[in-house]
Amino acid sequence: MHFKRVTYLSPCQKGLFVLQAIAILLLLPPVLKAASNDAPIRYLPEAKIFIMETDHTSYVFGINEQNALQNLYWGKKISREDDFSQAHTAETRYPLESQEGMTNEEYAGWGGMRYTEPCLKVTMADGVRDLVLKYVSHQVKGDTLEVLTKDMNYDLFVTLTYQVFPHHDIIRKNTTIENRTKQTVVVESAQSGVWYVPPGVGYRLTYLSGRWAGENQVTQETIHQGKKVLESRRMVTSQQATPWFAIDYHGEANEEYGRVWFGALGWSGNWKIVVEQTPNQQVRVVGGFNDFDFSYQLKPGESLKTPEFYGGYTDQGFGKASRIMHHFELAEILPHRPMPRLRPVSSNSWCATEFAANEENQKQFAAVAAKLGVELLMMDDGWFGARGARKDDHAGLGDWYPDPDKFPNGLKPLIDYVHGLGMEFGLWIEPEMVNPDSNLYRQHPDWVINFPGRPRTQGRNQLMLNLAREDVKEWVFNTFDKLLTENDIKVVKWDMNRHISEPGWPEVPPVEQKEIWVKYVANLYGILDRLRAKHPSIEIESSQSGGGRVDLEFLKRIETMNSSDNGDSFDLQRIGEGYSFVYAPKVTDGSVEDNPRTNGRSTPLKFRFLQGISMGGGLELCCDIRKWPTADLDAAKEMIGYYKVIRRTLQEGDLYRLDSPGDVDISAKEYVAPDGKQAVIFAFRHSQQFLYQAPTIYLRGLDDRALYRLQPIDGKLSEKQRVLSGAYLMNHGLDFKLEGDFDSTSVLFEKVE
Ligand code: DGJ
Repeated sequence: MHFKRVTYLSPCQKGLFVLQAIAILLLLPPVLKAASNDAPIRYLPEAKIFIMETDHTSYVFGINEQNALQNLYWGKKISREDDFSQAHTAETRYPLESQEGMTNEEYAGWGGMRYTEPCLKVTMADGVRDLVLKYVSHQVKGDTLEVLTKDMNYDLFVTLTYQVFPHHDIIRKNTTIENRTKQTVVVESAQSGVWYVPPGVGYRLTYLSGRWAGENQVTQETIHQGKKVLESRRMVTSQQATPWFAIDYHGEANEEYGRVWFGALGWSGNWKIVVEQTPNQQVRVVGGFNDFDFSYQLKPGESLKTPEFYGGYTDQGFGKASRIMHHFELAEILPHRPMPRLRPVSSNSWCATEFAANEENQKQFAAVAAKLGVELLMMDDGWFGARGARKDDHAGLGDWYPDPDKFPNGLKPLIDYVHGLGMEFGLWIEPEMVNPDSNLYRQHPDWVINFPGRPRTQGRNQLMLNLAREDVKEWVFNTFDKLLTENDIKVVKWDMNRHISEPGWPEVPPVEQKEIWVKYVANLYGILDRLRAKHPSIEIESSQSGGGRVDLEFLKRIETMNSSDNGDSFDLQRIGEGYSFVYAPKVTDGSVEDNPRTNGRSTPLKFRFLQGISMGGGLELCCDIRKWPTADLDAAKEMIGYYKVIRRTLQEGDLYRLDSPGDVDISAKEYVAPDGKQAVIFAFRHSQQFLYQAPTIYLRGLDDRALYRLQPIDGKLSEKQRVLSGAYLMNHGLDFKLEGDFDSTSVLFEKVE
């Protein structure tokens, strides 16, 4: 017979037991204590090492024997602190390099024998152009670390600031450069920081570049010795390059597997990211303000903050790297975080009425749109200016009052009508611009960016207001504050339709003029912040001739963006794929345009709708719905209904890029709801040849053992079973009868409880 031994403790014994347990815990060997320390930032005084940790990554740097900050590691989490030894400058027997020049310095000034891309370059008042930064002190406050450094002689201080976002596997860095000398210091290059991947060669760079109507094309290339510069010199983030990079080892990563280091910069003006492989076979990425035409005077006591640079690492491929960014942006970047409201279905007037918007035609749109289930009416360009001025893009910008011919009683009757139909109202504005043919320009020709006596080159017949000027900044704020106060507007589409030229600022001394690159953008942020603070319920759609101004700093001030001026659904598949590497689907609107408006390519309405919906953000109809036949209106109503059923999953869930539109003649995407209860896939075929069957589509991110009920939107799914396991869907996959040109389908999956 076996007896269970039961021990009974008296209350007094219990107390003793607890005390003993506490004593044992306190006496545990240090290694165990260290392991239980889950503070995201730790400083190890003996080894002089800073450890920053997220759930799955570590970022480590230390103070070396030259009292300089030296990077030690960035990658998958290494929990054992004792594994890291004190930082020590690189050894070199090579006479053309210095030890510090070959060391992975955490924030190197341009000084001594350093030849790689510097983080900071200055000229001191006495002409000295040598900067060697040494550690001074540091402060850890929860998930933030500040490390103060200083030049070896001069009182030029640089604070390196880090923030760790443990559950998002993201670390943010930037710096503050402070002049505590008694004379002006000129900053010639101010970078936010540098990211190092483990030493070695064979890395591959993935980046996004493009053009107007062709944003964010994914490009991959092997990194070799030298530099690859991604940048904007256009005073906006730009369509030409996106401030983002991803680096994988030996090109081994794909959507699901492989080590990927990635980063994104938040700056909506001239930015630069330099991906460099040094002669010492070290890949490093420096990013911050573009130093082209850059010069910033720091007077005594003044400081300059560099843009925030975000970095992350995953060993689960590009798909995971993107999802990390998406969830991070929703939780930590977007206004109204951590849970911005779901984006609405909107109808935009631009593609239908262009500059001819008036009260009557907008009411006509509103009436049709409301019947389709549209939730917001966005009145685009054309509504403002002196009587009859804005009939095209030659006049009107700057005169922000309703054209009395088009809106004899102001905007109120239209807005009331839209509200009466149960919809919200949105309005297009282009605050930073002026047409020479406008009352504003006639009154203030000096308000534009210009060099005296030089041409004022016009882009789309317009000039740029100099927001760096305090009076212009105030005028912009007051003008749009008034507009928002007087009208019940839910969303403003903040457009900007040219890039800079002749970047002069004649009102300030020549040595300060180049500060326009920083001050314009800083004041733009200031205007947006003040408007948002005063009108907390407004939302902003960023438009810069499509997607030319989106980055992590602008994202803090906008809810959504006009993804592209290209309305061709086929082109938009690749544009949308590019965005999804960096930006949360929630912010990329999906536009459905009339056919064949953009490039003459005709695609079926279903293809256009599914493409628009699959972008993941707000769904926008940029069409003349007044002219649609009943069959199209019915189809639109159905698609909008479908979108509303799945939009939380699209906007807040996990995106899986199943098949890239750049690879084969099929593309497929899947979204899985945050709670895993719903999933949806979209599949598109653009050009079937030789009667080849569409390839099988394998789902991802489902629960192997769960059952899912399938609801296809049409008869394209070959599979007849309507309840299937996650294992089947992910391993056996699904086949679709997608045929000919521009065929498409979607299936909704509900987890069976
Ligand atoms: C450019 C935008 O991208 C378009 O959507 C439209 O708003 C026009 N500007 C209006 O001028």
